[in-house]
Formats: sequence, structure tokens, C-alpha cells
Amino acid sequence: MPAPLLAPSLLAGDHANLAGSAAEAAAAGASWLHLDIMDGHFVPNLTFGPGTAAALRKHTPLFLDTHLMLDNPGDYVEPFARAGSDLISVHIEPAYDHAAVLARIRSLGKQNGLVLNPGTPVAAIEPLLAQVDLVLLMTVQPGFGGQSFRHDVLPKIEQVARARRERGLAFRIEVDGGVDAATAPLCRAAGADTFVAGTAFFRATDRVAFRRSIEG
Ligand code: DX5
Ligand code: ZN
Repeated sequence: MPAPLLAPSLLAGDHANLAGSAAEAAAAGASWLHLDIMDGHFVPNLTFGPGTAAALRKHTPLFLDTHLMLDNPGDYVEPFARAGSDLISVHIEPAYDHAAVLARIRSLGKQNGLVLNPGTPVAAIEPLLAQVDLVLLMTVQPGFGGQSFRHDVLPKIEQVARARRERGLAFRIEVDGGVDAATAPLCRAAGADTFVAGTAFFRATDRVAFRRSIEG
């Protein structure tokens, strides 16, 4: 199982000072930074595009974990790869050639990730597990930060962890949404190793202690 990692989500940072918020994540000792890219269609919210990611790239050394919440992610993997994303994850729910887009991300020299919403069964991603670097299980309905953790996703984390073990695979298992000091240990016990936290990270009074509580 990969070593546990915290990925602070910039969604809960200062959108007029993203570089400053990235620096706060680095100052807490984080090595990853989670970027939420929303299209106002797959999810009912908008954030920012590859131009902003490229500008941010010049200000932070952190590993850019880029979560595309888009109906047409295939059109954007190349722009985000060029912008300096290190990992690009795409949702299983929209209709497009998932295998081709996952392969394209790797051919651009980046890690890939496959994301599923709380209501999407693990069976939907099972045929693609051998082709991914990370599986992201949403623990809220995507679109907004600050929502409550969905406990009904815990059995799905266990299911993905079991599939990883049984098939001898090494992808990361990431959780995103409502992850805090209380819910992260539940995810960890279920088999998650990569923890996105927006609200809980940026609101923590001691961010180093918060990171350590997750990374051990
Ligand atoms: C939600 C995003 C999350 C968001 C999580 O659609 O994918 O990454 O930042 O926010 P918190 O940690 O506040 O639930
Ligand atoms: Zn996210």
C-alpha cells in the first residue's frame, strides 16, 4: 500500500491569491496540491482552466493533482499536461473513450487517475483498473467544498482496495470531499492512502499537525 499522503485542495484557498494558498500547503509540509477543475455542466460550479494552472506552476514546486470535473475531459488533458499538471484524473460518468483518454495522459508523461461519484458502482471502473495510477472515490457529490462526508462510500473504498490486492496492482486510492481529522481515519481503515482536504486543511489552526495526523 502506498504511503499516506495529504493533498490540500486549493478550492478552499484564496482564489485571488492561489500562489499564496499553494505556499501555505507547502509550508505545512504537503507534497501534493489538489486542483479542482469544474465546467459548470458536469458539475454546477466553475473554477479555473489550464491558463491559471500554468501560472500557478511557476509559483509552486508541489505535485499538481488535477481533478477534471468536465463532460469532455479528453479535450483538456493536453492543455493541463502542458500547463504542468503532474497527475490528471477524469471521471467515469460522462460518455467518452475512457481507456483512450487514460492512455493519452500517460503518453503525455503524466500520471492518470479515474474518478467515481458516490452513486457510481465500483463495477463501472473495474475493467480499467490495470491502466490507472490512481482511483479517486468521491465522498461527496462533486461541485462544492465544505459538504458532509458520505459514509456510504466506505464499503466502495474497501471494494477498490480488495480489487487492488487481489489483482496485485499498485494504484493509489484517493478520497475527496468532507475529509477531516475524524473521517480520514475511517477512509484509511477502509484502504485509502491519498486524502484530499480543502476546508479541513485551510481552516486547521495547526496545519502541520493536521498533515501529520493524516500522513503519520
Ligand atoms: C469537490 C471537490 C473537492 C473539494 C473538497 O467537488 O472535488 O476537491 O475541494 O472540499 P472539502 O475538503 O471542503 O470537502
Ligand atoms: Zn477534487
